[in-house]
Amino acid sequence: MSIMEIIKVPNPFLKITAKLVVDVNKNILTILDDMLETMYHANGIGLAATQISIDKRLIVMDCGKNNFEPKDISEEEYNEKIKSKKLEPFPIKMINPEIISFGKNIEEREEGCLSIPGYNANVKRPSSLKVSYIDENKKSVTLEANGLLATCIQHEIDHLNGILFIDHISKLKKEIILKKAIKEYTKN
Ligand code: NI
Repeated sequence: MSIMEIIKVPNPFLKITAKLVVDVNKNILTILDDMLETMYHANGIGLAATQISIDKRLIVMDCGKNNFEPKDISEEEYNEKIKSKKLEPFPIKMINPEIISFGKNIEEREEGCLSIPGYNANVKRPSSLKVSYIDENKKSVTLEANGLLATCIQHEIDHLNGILFIDHISKLKKEIILKKAIKEYTKN
């Protein structure tokens, strides 16, 4: 496994629409492993292939194991655990992920992105969803997600369509973040 370079704004590759994976071969599995290693190394909870300059519909995430038992724990406790990394690791790899349906509720959550490090903003998104994808064993899987994982899935699939979390906030806030971030990243 290897750690890949995560591209940042304003890299134009972040705006591409990634291509469907047609064959789940060894190369794809290696990319997924590299993506997870790169994500953990950068202390992220999600990463899309386009962020490491790979034009394929692949995403990885780890929002912790307890996300699947949301009734056992309050939202605040859960967010605390995520921040302090007390959750059991629960890596998820998705090939050609596609959201099938959204729940009715909208939730606002603070988001960040490894391609815009150091900048966060509140984003409103559906709080639950159903997603289908191909897993690393070439099996078709349908997953129901809510809370942080649902946010993460939407954020990462957005990346595969050239969309960043700042595209979901006001134009003014977006421009402020972009201006500051680009200035900071291009300083050296
Ligand atoms: Ni991101």
